[in-house]
Order: sequence, then structure tokens, then C-alpha cells
Amino acid sequence: MNVTRREFLELSAATTAGLALSKKAIAGGAADPVRVGIVGTGRRGKSLLKTMLQIDNIKVPALCDIDRDALSMAQDIAVKAGQPKPQGYSKDEYVFKELMNRDDLDAVIIATPWHWHTPMAVYGMEHGKYVGVEVPAAISLDECWQLVNTHEKTGVPCMMMENWSFRRDNLAILNMIRKGMFGDIVHCHCAHSHDCVDHWFFDTDGKIRWGGEYLLKYNRDQYPTHSLGPVLSWMDINCGDSFDYLTSTASDSRGINAYFSRKFGPDHPNAKRKYKQGDIVTTVVRTKKGKTIVINYDMQLPRPYDNRWLIQGTLGLYNEQRNSLYIVDKSPKYHQWEPFPPYQEKYEHKWWREMKQKDGSFGHGGTDYLELKLFFDAVRNKTQTPVDVYDSVVMSCIVPLSGESIANGSAPVKCPDFTHGKWETKKPVFAVEV
Ligand SMILES: NC(=O)c1ccc[n+]([C@@H]2O[C@H](COP(=O)([O-])OP(=O)(O)OC[C@H]3O[C@@H](n4cnc5c(N)ncnc54)[C@H](O)[C@@H]3O)[C@@H](O)[C@H]2O)c1
Repeated sequence: MNVTRREFLELSAATTAGLALSKKAIAGGAADPVRVGIVGTGRRGKSLLKTMLQIDNIKVPALCDIDRDALSMAQDIAVKAGQPKPQGYSKDEYVFKELMNRDDLDAVIIATPWHWHTPMAVYGMEHGKYVGVEVPAAISLDECWQLVNTHEKTGVPCMMMENWSFRRDNLAILNMIRKGMFGDIVHCHCAHSHDCVDHWFFDTDGKIRWGGEYLLKYNRDQYPTHSLGPVLSWMDINCGDSFDYLTSTASDSRGINAYFSRKFGPDHPNAKRKYKQGDIVTTVVRTKKGKTIVINYDMQLPRPYDNRWLIQGTLGLYNEQRNSLYIVDKSPKYHQWEPFPPYQEKYEHKWWREMKQKDGSFGHGGTDYLELKLFFDAVRNKTQTPVDVYDSVVMSCIVPLSGESIANGSAPVKCPDFTHGKWETKKPVFAVEV
């Protein structure tokens, strides 16, 4: 059931209807099987596999990873879930092409290191497979354009699997924004504050992992998409507004050296090595409609997890860190915060209202389940994915653009318009309640 360009174009007119169809699918109605292959069965790939195996009518006939142990663990997961043993591909770094050449797959999920995302996604689209690619989808402007151009040439959808776009609280806030409760939106703050030094950039024994290699070579916001996921729909980016330019500033790099010195002693090589990556990167985006977004990269200092989402308009604001909001003439006390949870309840998005109780137990509190479910609904119905290629690259382009600004003394950098001007007339599609 590979999607062809002609089939996709015929059906893409039904995009909105297709998103509406997801109601039936979330509620668990009968559906045709979707056959998916996964490339990259490391930590994230296996987690996504476990979650997708809980969704009705998902078949996983093929898995690919150059690490045979990771591949075999993933095959075991599929077999334990009652699937026939998926065919494994592990010969070399390009064997993913053999998986993507198969004509019995409808979609591929890519969960490999960052530099593989775009080459694999491009190949997947060129071979008629719906692509779900992990974050960030691209790490250079050239890669962003490759994704856009390949999508436009083939007509095949490509979705960056930005799970925080689907978070329960973020979707309730989206509903409130769309009802005008915060007035005209003016400003937003978001962050990815997640200390990844001791388990992701490095192994627990101190060995550098592939993600850590980026910290040696680059100084930029390496991971902006979790912060930006909900912001895109909150601020109608690509459908009413567009990034205009940004400036980025990085602090010095101290956290990694301090961590290794504390944990392994001051003579450990990683305690003395020079990392290009500053500990905190602050990017300020100004949109074409005159709104501002502050994005923080914050992944190498010791701290609890945080996203620091804040969205502010002419009638009030929401602050995720405080789990609170303030709305003028509505909040009971003048200029005082009130708790967000009752609003969460009242403005719950239908995607979450329709989730079954058990679904909430999978990956990131049910967010991964919902994201995968909606992605596979689009594959099954041959409609556009809930996050499209333009949304995917506009979130990802912060990686190279922040690097360029930092390298030039925080100079303003123009953001490309990947939509070729369509942002001015396109109406919001993501998570629109019908
Ligand atoms: N959305 C989220 O919440 C979330 C969470 C964690 C990681 N991620 C993303 O998932 C991706 C993978 O991260 P991870 O933590 O699982 O890393 P990982 O190192 O655990 O897994 C990556 C896997 O890719 C394999 N691989 C590398 N090159 C390959 C190639 N050419 N062909 C086939 N397999 C190849 C590796 O052997 C490894 O098993 C990253 O892009 C990361 O940003 C997303």
C-alpha cells in the first residue's frame, strides 16, 4: 500500500476530513493494518516500538539497526507482543535502503542519530513510504530544503515525531487560545531543560556517545523542537504567521567539565576537554506579525526536567512552570495567578477525551501513543500527517540558524520561508476540533 504521488495528491484535498477520521480510530474502530518498518532500534526506537505495538492493526514486518544486539532486542519485543519475528537489517550503515525498498511497507519510523535523519527520510519519501522521523528532522538549512523539496517532488508526507505537540496540557491551552481567552497572542517562552550529560550525551561510565560528539563540534541550540512543538500551533506559525529573524546567545561551557570533575576526578579527559557547546543558549525569534518567542537550550547543567512554557496575550497568560494562568476580568483575584487544572478539565482536547484509560500508560504519559496513533491514521487514510514537512523543518531550522547567530556575535539571522509564502493564507489544521 505504498502511497504514490498521484494517490497522495488526490487524497490530500481530504486532509481536514482525514484528520477528522482520526476520531473513529482513536476510539478504537475497525481499521486496515498499517505495515511499518523501524530504522534505529536503540533507546527511542524500542520505546516507540513498544508503544506502537499497543495500537490496533499495526504490523511491524521489518526492523533495521547496525547494532545487532539492539536489533535482536527489538525483534524480541515484537515477538513477545504476538507479531511474527520481523526481518532484521543490520549489515551496514546503508542497509536501511533495503528495508525502504520493500514494497510491503506503508511507513517507516526513523530513530537514528541526528545526521542520519534527513538522508533516511529523503530515501523513504522517494520510495513511497510515509516517513515519521525523530527530532530534529534536519540539522542544516540544506537538509531542511532537501526534506521540503523531496516532499514537494514526491507528494509523500514526512512528519517529525515531535511528541510535545500532542501533550494533554498543551492541547487544552491550544483550545483556550483558539477561543480567544488569552486575547491577541504577543509573546511566548519555551525551553528544553533536561540534564542529559550523565545518560545520553555520555554513557554512565563516562564514554562519549554520538550526541556528545555534537557538543565538541558545535555551539547552537542542538535540540529546539520539544520546546517549539506546542508553540507552533499556539502562534499559528506556517498558518497565519511565520518566523522572520532570530538572534541567539550562548553562555560559556562549564557544566560538562564540572560534571566529570565531580564524578570522575579533575584528571578525567572529559573534565579537561574543551566543548564548543555553551551550557545555556537563548534564542529570540521575531515573527513577521511582530510576535516574539524565547527558546532556551539547557541540557548540560544539573537540574530537574522542565519546559518553562509561557504564552502571553492581550487578555492574560499561561505559565506551565507554575501550572497557573491569569485572565483579565475572569481570574477571581486582580493580577493574581489561579490554578490551571480546572481549565485543563474544561478545555480538554477531544484527542485526549477520546483516549482509552489504558492508552495513558504508554510513553510520556500517553503522548507518544496519541502521536503514533494519529500518524498511523494518516498513513491508513492516505491523508496529510498531523505535523507536516513544513512544521518539521521550521522547528528544526533553529539548530543551524542559532549556530550562525552565535558564531557572528549574536547577529540577527533571517529565517527562510519554507512554505513559499503559503503561510499567509493557510488556515490552521493541526488539532482543529471539528
Ligand atoms: N521524541 C522524544 O521524546 C525522543 C526521546 C529520545 C530520543 N529521541 C530521538 O531519537 C533518536 C535516537 O535517539 P536514541 O536515544 O534512541 O539513541 P540510541 O543511540 O539509543 O539509538 C540510535 C540507534 O540508531 C542506530 N544506528 C545508527 N546509525 C544507523 C544506521 N545508519 N542505520 C541503522 N541504525 C543506525 C544505533 O546503532 C542505535 O541503536 C534521536 O534522534 C533522538 O533525538 C527522541
